[in-house]
Amino acid sequence: MKVPFFDLKNQYQELKQEVEPEILKVMESCAYIGGGTVQEFQTHVADYLGAKYAIGCGNGTEALVLGLRACNIKPGDEVITTPFTFFATAEAIASIGAVPVFVDIKEDDYTIDPAQVERYITDKTKAILPVHIFGAACDMDAILEIARKHDLYVIEDAAQAIGGEYKGRKLGTIGDVGCFSFYPTKNLGGCGDGGMVVTNDDERAVILGALHEHGAGQQGAKAKEYLDGTVEILETKEQADELYNPYKYFNYLIGYNSRLDALQAKVLDIKLKHLDTYNQKRAAIADKYKKGLTGQVIFPAYNSDIKSCWHQFVIRSDYKEELCDYLGKNEIGCGTFYPIPLHKQKAFSTGNAKNTDVSLPIAELIASQSVCLPIYPELTDEQVELVIQTVNQFYKTKE
Ligand SMILES: Cc1ncc(COP(=O)(O)O)c(C=O)c1O
Repeated sequence: MKVPFFDLKNQYQELKQEVEPEILKVMESCAYIGGGTVQEFQTHVADYLGAKYAIGCGNGTEALVLGLRACNIKPGDEVITTPFTFFATAEAIASIGAVPVFVDIKEDDYTIDPAQVERYITDKTKAILPVHIFGAACDMDAILEIARKHDLYVIEDAAQAIGGEYKGRKLGTIGDVGCFSFYPTKNLGGCGDGGMVVTNDDERAVILGALHEHGAGQQGAKAKEYLDGTVEILETKEQADELYNPYKYFNYLIGYNSRLDALQAKVLDIKLKHLDTYNQKRAAIADKYKKGLTGQVIFPAYNSDIKSCWHQFVIRSDYKEELCDYLGKNEIGCGTFYPIPLHKQKAFSTGNAKNTDVSLPIAELIASQSVCLPIYPELTDEQVELVIQTVNQFYKTKE
C-alpha cells in the first residue's frame, strides 16, 4: 500500500458530480471575471470566518502584498516576521520595497516569538506579520498587545490556516487583515491559484477593493484619500450600469490585476461547504498520529487557545534525512517543511532584509528537524496505521 504525501485525485472523484455541472453553468454564463459567482463566494467566506469583508485575489502571495499595501506599508518600512514559513511570506514584504525583519520562533509550537518581536522594534517598524504555520495559531494576544503599544499593523498570514481558531476566533480575522491561499493542496484548495484577503475595517476593505483592480474607479479615489489624504474630486458621471462603469478607466493608485476568477470561486464555494468536515477528518488523523507514534517522536505542543486546522502534521527528528529516506523506501510520502529558514535564503541579504547575518537558533533547529507526515481527509485508517507503524519501526532501529 502506498501513502502519497497528498492526493488530490480522491477528493476530485468524491466531488465530481457536485462540481462539474456547476462549472458548466459558469462556462455557459460567460461571466468569468467578477460577477455573482465571485461575490457569492466572498460573502460565504466572510460569513464562515465571521469577518466583515472578504476580497478575492490571484493567490496567497498577492493576498499578502495587497494586505501590506492596504496597511500603507511603504518602501523602507520594516515588517517583523518569522523565518520559519514558506518563502512567499517575506517575498511579499520585500516585493513592495519594505524590509522583512526576521525574528526567532517559539520551540513549543514553531510560531513567531512575541518576546523577540518586541526586541526588534525600531522607529521604522510599521507592522507585524505573524504566520499561523501548519494551521496553528500564533500567540495573538501578545502580538496584538505589542502592536497596540507601538502603533503597528498586524497582517496575519493565514495561508495555511483556514478554519483554524485562536480562543474561538477564526484565524485571519484577528489582526487588521488576514491573507489566505487557495493553492490546490491547501485545506480549501482550488483547481489552480487563488487567494483572499479579509478584514473587519471599512477603510482597509475599500483600499483592497481598489488595489486588486488597478486602483481604478470611485473605490480607487476613496482608497487614495485613505492612504495619503489626497481628496480627488470626481467628475459627476451618470449612475454606473452593469456593463458600463464610467469610472473604470480613471486610475488613482498603482495597483494590480489580482482577481479570483469565477471558475475558481465556484469550485471553492462548493468545497467550502465541506471544509469543517475535512478539517475534522484532519484532526482525527492528527489524534491517531499523536496516540500511535512512539515516545521518541516530538510534536509541537499546541496550548488550549489553539485549534489547529491541521494543514500539516509535523514531527521533529534528529534523523530527518534518514527518516525521509526510510519513509520513501516504504512508499510513504513526507514533506520537509521548511528546510531553509528564510533569514538563510540566498534571496535575502542585509541589502533587502534584517537579521540575515545573525543566528536565529530555534528556527534553524526546527528547520533541521521538521518532517511533515501525510494528512488529508481522504487518508484511510489503514494508511494512517501504516504511517504510524513505519515511523515506529524506524525509531526501533535507533534504540
Ligand atoms: C505560509 C504561506 N504564505 C503564503 C503562501 C503563498 O500562497 P500562494 O502559493 O497561493 O501564493 C503560502 C502557500 O503556499 C504559504 O504556505
